[in-house]
Amino acid sequence: MSLTTIILAAGKSTRMLSLKSKILFKISAEPIIQHVYNAARKIKSNDIICVLSNPPEELTKFIKENNIKSALQKKPSGTADAVKSALKKIPSKRNNNILILCGDVPFISSQSLNIMIKKLSQSDLCLGTFNQANPKGYGRVIRHGNKVIKIVEEKDASEKIKKVTEINTGIICIKEHVLRKYIGKINNNNKQKEFYLTDLISLLSDNNHKISTYSIKDELETMGINSKKDLVDLERKLLVKKATNLLNKGVLIRDVQRTDIKGDLKVQKDVDIDINCIFEDKVTIGSNSTIGHNCYLNRCKIGKNVHIKPNTIIFGATIGDNCIVGPYARIRPGAVLKNNSQVGNFVEVKNSTIGSGTKINHLSYIGDATLGSNINVGAGCITCNYDGENKYKTIIESNSFIGSGTRLVAPVTVAKGSYIAAGSTVTKDTPGGGSLTIARSKQVSIPKWKNKTIKGKK
Ligand code: UD1
Ligand code: CA
Repeated sequence: MSLTTIILAAGKSTRMLSLKSKILFKISAEPIIQHVYNAARKIKSNDIICVLSNPPEELTKFIKENNIKSALQKKPSGTADAVKSALKKIPSKRNNNILILCGDVPFISSQSLNIMIKKLSQSDLCLGTFNQANPKGYGRVIRHGNKVIKIVEEKDASEKIKKVTEINTGIICIKEHVLRKYIGKINNNNKQKEFYLTDLISLLSDNNHKISTYSIKDELETMGINSKKDLVDLERKLLVKKATNLLNKGVLIRDVQRTDIKGDLKVQKDVDIDINCIFEDKVTIGSNSTIGHNCYLNRCKIGKNVHIKPNTIIFGATIGDNCIVGPYARIRPGAVLKNNSQVGNFVEVKNSTIGSGTKINHLSYIGDATLGSNINVGAGCITCNYDGENKYKTIIESNSFIGSGTRLVAPVTVAKGSYIAAGSTVTKDTPGGGSLTIARSKQVSIPKWKNKTIKGKK
């Protein structure tokens, strides 16, 4: 049996109070729609089609970049109408299943979807439900005995129905020929004057079709985003859950409410993470390392016994064992800090290798450079790597000493064992071998300067 997945994403996003389409808002570092799309891909849909209406440029770009098929719903007039627009784009197939996902329910898992697809083999429609203690805003699942007979939307619900806690997650799996048979029979006789996809349930029930349900276990999988409040509530719940999971696995997360693991964080034993840290994309941290407060780590690898001090940003970099980084360091893509090196406060490192035991401790910029081992870079040193058009490399060989306030104008090589006097502007390669290079103007002192300048004045 083949499977077509339809993602509904053409709503007006009115409750978001924004000019932007809600499915492009980021949650856990990715657009809402990206999460839904990832789930659809994981379950090996034969075809994925996304329903859109008047897509803004940003959304069209997203659809193109991800190679997603789309169907246009000219005027968003309800979820049933959206599904109809998608069906027009799908060649009719007798033995096909259709999975309908809401573009605004981001964390549905492929495990739950697979269970629903399995359940569909014994029924004509499988509905994803959840027992929600606070069901406000969701469609309520109405049963007669055990049998599901209809879904009532919040806006059409009586006070009695509003008390029902079994909700419709919006995720429906249905046999294609059944969907095609009944979709046209849905009307818009309701408070919102919309064509509700949820009316399929009563239509199928009235016509003796078998409806199965799957009660999804994890609340986060079922939460939909209609407003910004929904977005932040869901994101917070997810992040607290991820941090708590790691805490339970032995990572010392000082405050699970103030630790945002938005990507995939892998941590070895005895790692200590202070408050307000954000982790995005793939991050690994070796054993016995500490991350100070307010750090941002994105796509990076941190070794063992590393001390990342507060307010440090590390993005696309590799930090070796026993390194000390920060406070207030910025380690950018392509930076590799070898074992035992140190990069201190207000130091920026980009696309550079810092050799083992090398120290750059204060106020420096190191870009497109290769530094050997056991080098000391004084305060305020700069690799001048860019001439306005091209970037050039700086090489500093091992055991060199770079005095404070040195500017190294690339391309340039500082040979092994060089000493550079403080305040030098180095434009030529240095000989190294214990020599001192001084490249600054000679200091002169002009006597009686004050008297001259005030001459003529009283
Ligand atoms: C919908 C369900 C509700 C369920 C809830 C789960 C209906 C009528 N109601 O309500 O039972 O509890 O989801 O989150 O289905 N969309 C379109 N075209 C439209 C209207 C909506 O593509 O004309 C898309 C939206 O972009 C959204 C999804 O369909 O991704 C659901 O629409 P939304 O308006 O958010 O429905 P809810 O009120 O949340
Ligand atoms: Ca919704």
